[in-house]
Amino acid sequence: MKADTSRWAGWRFTEIAAGHIIAGMALLKIARMGNPVLRAPAAAIEDPTAPWVRRIVGDMIETMEDAGGTGLAAPQVHQPWRIVVFFVSGERLTEMPGDVAQGLTVLINPVVEPLGRERAFGWEGCLSVPGLRGVVPRHLRIRYRATGLDGETIDREAEGFHARVVQHECDHLDGILYPQRMTDLRLLVFLEELQRHPIDLADLLAETRPG
Ligand code: NI
Repeated sequence: MKADTSRWAGWRFTEIAAGHIIAGMALLKIARMGNPVLRAPAAAIEDPTAPWVRRIVGDMIETMEDAGGTGLAAPQVHQPWRIVVFFVSGERLTEMPGDVAQGLTVLINPVVEPLGRERAFGWEGCLSVPGLRGVVPRHLRIRYRATGLDGETIDREAEGFHARVVQHECDHLDGILYPQRMTDLRLLVFLEELQRHPIDLADLLAETRPG
């Protein structure tokens, strides 16, 4: 998922990633919408602690930082594996109790489970869909489980923006890009135009929703 540049300020890659960094990381090429790698389901990883996994993760983190993203899934860098990296900066948090800032997190073989039926609409961008933003409905609350780089179990409940980022990134592992989740394609816009002609999402949703 794409970050606004303002959200990136103050984030120190080397601090957060310390311990996971290995020498010789490389920037990877980011696949754009239309590349078949983005439509294919990614494969599960048998041994999350394998050195080749750590190498890909290091490259993904460096690529995400370079591109100004808040999340990146392995298929976006032509690696057909179930790996996601993301972080949540405090600037994007909602009022929800489970929407808390997250340092850099690595998810291997993640599984997302919705909690409850509530959904929320919010703007999303994607490094694989450059220049665009879209309004996407997502589950408001989720639980997600995954394995970390050291083989540890990650089991978290998330709400709000945190939940949105995880759903967006995990969709990539099933070959799904955010425009496929949109319910109103009028709200798929160029970021430049959105900045010139701001859209009040609350107003617009109140207009279009029955009742
Ligand atoms: Ni994305």
